[in-house]
Order: sequence, then C-alpha cells, then structure tokens
Amino acid sequence: MNLLFEKVILIGVTGGVAAYKVPLLVRELKGRGAKVKVILTENAKRFVSSQVLSIFSDGVFDSLWEDDIPHITLSSESDFFLILPADYNIIGKAASGVADDLLSTTIAAYNKKILFCPSMNPRMLENPVLIKNIEYLKSCGHYFLEPSKGPLACGVEGKGRLPSISRIVLEIEKALSPKTLEGDLCLITGGGTVEKIDPVRCLTNESSGKMAYYLAKYCYLSGGEVELILGKNTLNLDPDLPYKITLVNSAEEMFNKILDRWDEVDYLFMSAAVSDFTVNPKEEKIKRKEELVLELKSNIDILKELKKRKKHQFIVGFSLEKENLRASTLEKMKEKGCDIMVGNFVSSIGSEESAGIIISKKGEEEFNCSKEELAWKIIQKIK
Ligand code: CTP
Repeated sequence: MNLLFEKVILIGVTGGVAAYKVPLLVRELKGRGAKVKVILTENAKRFVSSQVLSIFSDGVFDSLWEDDIPHITLSSESDFFLILPADYNIIGKAASGVADDLLSTTIAAYNKKILFCPSMNPRMLENPVLIKNIEYLKSCGHYFLEPSKGPLACGVEGKGRLPSISRIVLEIEKALSPKTLEGDLCLITGGGTVEKIDPVRCLTNESSGKMAYYLAKYCYLSGGEVELILGKNTLNLDPDLPYKITLVNSAEEMFNKILDRWDEVDYLFMSAAVSDFTVNPKEEKIKRKEELVLELKSNIDILKELKKRKKHQFIVGFSLEKENLRASTLEKMKEKGCDIMVGNFVSSIGSEESAGIIISKKGEEEFNCSKEELAWKIIQKIK
C-alpha cells in the first residue's frame, strides 16, 4: 500500500543545520513515487545546496519574483506541505502573519494543515515566545513533529534534533491516510516468546516480529494509538517511532502486560508466536551429560484466557498451520474468541511474505502477499 504514489509534496526548508538532511528525505519520497518540490529560504541555502536538491527533486524555488505567482501555484498544487527544519523564525512568522519571502507567503496562501518539524537549540525550544507561537499554530489546525533528543550541532545534548527520515515519512503518510482508527488503542504483540531452561538457555522460535511491525505502522497511519509488546525479534527498531514498546520474555509476562492495558484496549492483534510449552527453569547452568530429558509443561494460552475477559475488545488472532489451513483457522477462531483469524502456513514464520486466509465474521479472503500488504488488508477489514 503506497500512500505517497503520485502525491505532490511541498517541503519548505529554513536555516537550520538539519537542512542538510532534506536531500535524503527528498530521495526517500521520490523513491516511493511522490513528486517533490522544495522552497528554500535565503538562510536555508547556507546549510543545503539548491543544486543537489534540483537533482533529486521536481523543482527548487526560492524567489517570489521569478515565476508567475509561485506562492499561489505551489500552495494550490500540493497535496501536502511540511516545513523542515522549521526554525524559530519561520514559526514566529507563520504565527504572526508575516509574509515577506516565498516560503512565508506560500504558508499564508496554503489553506490546508501544515506539518512543522522544528529543530533548534533546547533553550530556543523552551522559549515562551516559541511555545506560545506553536500553541497558536496548533489552534489554527497545523501540527508539529516533536524534535528528538540527542547530541546537537551546537555542542549540547538535549531535545532539538530532527527525527529520523523514516519517522518523518511516517508522519507524511499518516497525513495522507484515512483515519479509521482515530482515538483507538491498538495493542499489538509480536516476536517469539522465550521460556528459560537455565540461566543461559531458552525455548523460543523463529518469529521475527515483522507482522507486528507492519500492523503497528498501519494502525498508526489510521490514527490509532499504538502499543507494542514484543518478545524476541529481529527488528531493528527506529528509536524515533511513535509507539510505546514493551519488551517481554515469557508467555506469562506477555499475558500480564496485556492484562495491564486490557480495559483500555480497543483492538488486540495477537501476532506473537507464543510458546505452547514452558519449562521449570534450573537455577544453575545445566552441565553437559550423555543424555538430557527436558520436561516440558503446557504453557498459558493467552487468547483463551483473554476470551474469558473479553468485553468491547476486537481481537485479531494468527493461526500458524502446516495443513488444513481453513478448517484449523476456523476452529481456532471459535476456540480463542477472535473476531478475525488470519491463517498462514508455517513457511510465513520469519519471512517477509505470507500466504493464507483471512477469516472474519463477514467472510473470507485468501492472500499471497508481503506482510506489509497483509497488515493493510487486515486494518481495512476491522472497520
Ligand atoms: N496463542 C496464544 N497463546 C499460546 C499460543 C498461541 O495466545 N500459548 C495465540 C497466538 O498468538 C495466535 C493464536 O493463538 O494468535 C494461534 O496460535 P497458533 O500457534 O497457531 O495455535 P496454537 O493455539 O498454539 O495451537 P497449535 O500450535 O497446536 O496449532
């Protein structure tokens, strides 16, 4: 699902060090099929080259006077407008109605929401004048991407960095998505659970957590509040992602973390591969011997336990099967109280692709696609 395909994105760049990241963002957006136009302020040109940007983008603009009324054409022909980095000056100008160059005049002529991505020194960020200007712009319907924390170009450590390119792209995609889950809490489990055998050994599985990652993405783009509970996984998660992430080991721990949030949850996506067996762990490392018999005992079935506590929650389960996919998925759907059960073959575990069947109370659909596409299909079905 490519929300950026053929969309016209307008980026206003102001004079902050983070302007050097704009060509990377432009490349990323172009790679997804968007048309990208860039407005540079005079100060922005000190931090990013308009020559580099003209190679990557579909046009770089910096003057009110070169073309025919560029502020009107640029503002009316764009699907989305973001200011990145947004410095102290442009936020002040936008809030007080100053229009004295191409960027500020285009802001004045734009009649949809603008995304401001501030990046500056922490003392400037805490300035009450800036805070008041941001509040005012928010009250006009505009919105802001919180800067992240870390080492800053001015030599201090703190809040003020531009978030990662993937975080910014996610925010642009969100602005272009239908908000079917606005205000809903989406709790997503993923990865494989880990049952301790002794201090250094464990019982786990090949789950990567990818399904949970893509579900989180599309829940967020649809306006949901996202919380992830992850077991062992191979995800290299961007620290700027706007999700609350809780890491767990055992099935018991995962169950308790879900219970902590259960009353607030609107949608539960149980994509974790939960171990069906657990072990009474030994306190000391087990020594090598000729033969070792591990005694496994049945583990908690999280979904079955949640079925007893189900009230308003909508539950999506995932069944992993080697044969009789449809029948087994249907059976598990009833047994575990799921509203949707996604049946997939064992080859899906750890893979980027998945094949199987989505069964809901309204019907069935077979799929053979990437996990990202599957996540989108599931989100489409839940509302
Ligand atoms: N699940 C769970 N608790 C478990 C095992 C699985 O909540 N102890 C959840 C999974 O997260 C998934 C669904 O139940 O959403 C189906 O998991 P699956 O492994 O396919 O089924 P099992 O119930 O474990 O049955 P089996 O392994 O015998 O097929």
